[in-house]
Amino acid sequence: MLNIPQLTDFSEASLDAAFAQVQAEAKIAVAGEAFNIEGFRLEWLGRKQGRLKIISDTWLKTAPPEAKKLIGQRFNALKEAIESELAGRESFLKEFKQGLETPGSPFVPQLDITLPGTAQRLGVEHPLVRTMAEIVSVFQRMGYSVGLGPEVETDFYNFEALNFPPNHPARDTQDTLVVADQDSKPLRERLLMRTHTSPVQIRSMLEHDPPLRLVIPGKVHRNDAADATHSPVFHQVEGLCVGPDITFSDLKGTLDHAMKAFFGSAVKTRFFPSFFPFTEPSADVQISCIFCGGKGCRKCKHSGWIELLGCGMVDPAVFESVNQRRIELGRDPVYDTRRIAGFAFGMGVDRIAMMKYGISDIGLLYSGDMRFLEQFA
Ligand code: PHE
Repeated sequence: MLNIPQLTDFSEASLDAAFAQVQAEAKIAVAGEAFNIEGFRLEWLGRKQGRLKIISDTWLKTAPPEAKKLIGQRFNALKEAIESELAGRESFLKEFKQGLETPGSPFVPQLDITLPGTAQRLGVEHPLVRTMAEIVSVFQRMGYSVGLGPEVETDFYNFEALNFPPNHPARDTQDTLVVADQDSKPLRERLLMRTHTSPVQIRSMLEHDPPLRLVIPGKVHRNDAADATHSPVFHQVEGLCVGPDITFSDLKGTLDHAMKAFFGSAVKTRFFPSFFPFTEPSADVQISCIFCGGKGCRKCKHSGWIELLGCGMVDPAVFESVNQRRIELGRDPVYDTRRIAGFAFGMGVDRIAMMKYGISDIGLLYSGDMRFLEQFA
């Protein structure tokens, strides 16, 4: 026997509740996943055993005469509601079936699994970042740690502590981009874009006691007009090694080894006297031309050598300004030039990357042009 609500009395409220319950069940059956038209018709509208038939048998027939009209009205409304529910579902199913056969219809699944997938392309390191990381790792294998410093520096760290006094002509060698509206500050506190990574030498010595051995990769800025070999933004890797008994021979051996590790063991190095305010003595380092092996070619201007970096022994004046600043910061002035010495070097990453990858215009490194960058994938 199909399950239908039991009528307890024939009040309008009880009838409404009972009919509403049946209608809700019908609605659920029509919408349900298991719905099929024939089965539903049989179960609900079947002439002999359908639920509506049973309802009319048990409710209408057992009702007292005064309730018959009330039940009859509700019964007709229920029947109409169920039939319209059914008609709605039928027309939806028909539309759905037609839709499946109609390209572009919302019923047609939009996913075409026969199409090739959307490839997720893997990014690669920018050639500058890659070159910088390779240089750094050569020094890491020699026991160097890695330091970083800010790109916006004070005049003190970028110049003064590195023995470029105010108004000293050596400042002209690094045309500087300064932050505006700093005139009310004392010169040493004025902000500028760092022109080299050397200020991080000072910051490192303020933070750490000797011995010290670190490389400092980073971005630097100069007020230079852009051309094929100059960019107002470029990159350097700085090196600093401080400890007892550090000599110029250590500097030569270290850089010779580093150049061989980076460019190949056939590369030779040579050191020329140079000048930097913060090293004494200072040298420019050349390597034998990696293109012609030293025989002379267009790349090395037929000299057989390519100039690659600046270096020297840390000037005692630099240790002195570190000690001074350490005293101001309440730290021990442990950079005692009677007990320690050090060397420093700095190289331009862009030039090295250009040599390594055969790039003739530095601007390509900053253009963001995918046709250029894709070649490094
Ligand atoms: N900072 C110097 C420059 O940018 C390079 C350098 C670094 C020279 C360390 C000597 C020692 O030109």
